[in-house]
Amino acid sequence: MSERAADVVRQRMGGTSPDIAIVLGSSVGRLADAVEPVCTIPYQDLTGFPVPSVSGHSGTLIVGRLGGREVVILKGRVHAYESGRTDVMRPVIETLAELDVKTVILTNAAGSLDENVGPGRLMLIEDHINFACANPLVGEPGDHGFVSLTNAYDSELRQTMRNAAHDIELPLAEGTYVWFSGPSFETPAEIKAARILGADAVGMSTVPETILARRYGLTVIGVSIITNLAAGMAGSAPSHEETKREGEKATDDLVRLVTRFMERTNND
Ligand code: HPA
Repeated sequence: MSERAADVVRQRMGGTSPDIAIVLGSSVGRLADAVEPVCTIPYQDLTGFPVPSVSGHSGTLIVGRLGGREVVILKGRVHAYESGRTDVMRPVIETLAELDVKTVILTNAAGSLDENVGPGRLMLIEDHINFACANPLVGEPGDHGFVSLTNAYDSELRQTMRNAAHDIELPLAEGTYVWFSGPSFETPAEIKAARILGADAVGMSTVPETILARRYGLTVIGVSIITNLAAGMAGSAPSHEETKREGEKATDDLVRLVTRFMERTNND
């Protein structure tokens, strides 16, 4: 029988015991370079881990230190749209829980529905709308699926993130993220509808991971890198190339923000 992913990670991470993890979204993989690594493990070596197929995403788990804090980095996520399976990240989230990780920071690239928050800005996720109307917990046995999503993006940690942004003088937007399944981008009419529903940013990830993380008792914080104005806004026609390019540009700010957050949560 193949070895459990959590056992493989435990063996390789030696005496470290990280209690926070970061999932790196499209094109922000460079954040991993800011980490002093203890071990680097390709997803292929971890039983059950899905291997990303989309450009801009690799598949590596890194244990190391960031801002003085031990951390697990998940460089590369797999999206539901790659297979149609919304629970594709379950083995990853389950492994984090088995490793006694308590908090996960989910990052993503997103389109903005607010013309005042343009490409290059970061947005703290306050809440989400599941517009894909799919749920990774469908089929969950017993009562485990009845997960509360009130305060899904933890309000205390959001305050810490706001404080971290303030420390480094970074303007941090905050708002509601709406999940569209993708992989096609949205129509301008869909974006208009999402605005009316109260969304501030749109993307193709994160929501299933948040639901899974809450299922396994992890505390969640989410940060979007705004790579474009959403479809139809100011004539915008989003593309994957633009997402990768703009995501890459804003990564330095994300590194500074997350590093400061780590320092703050280390000392608090
Ligand atoms: N829509 C969906 N996903 C995205 C976008 C967008 O406009 N930008 C980056 N990821």
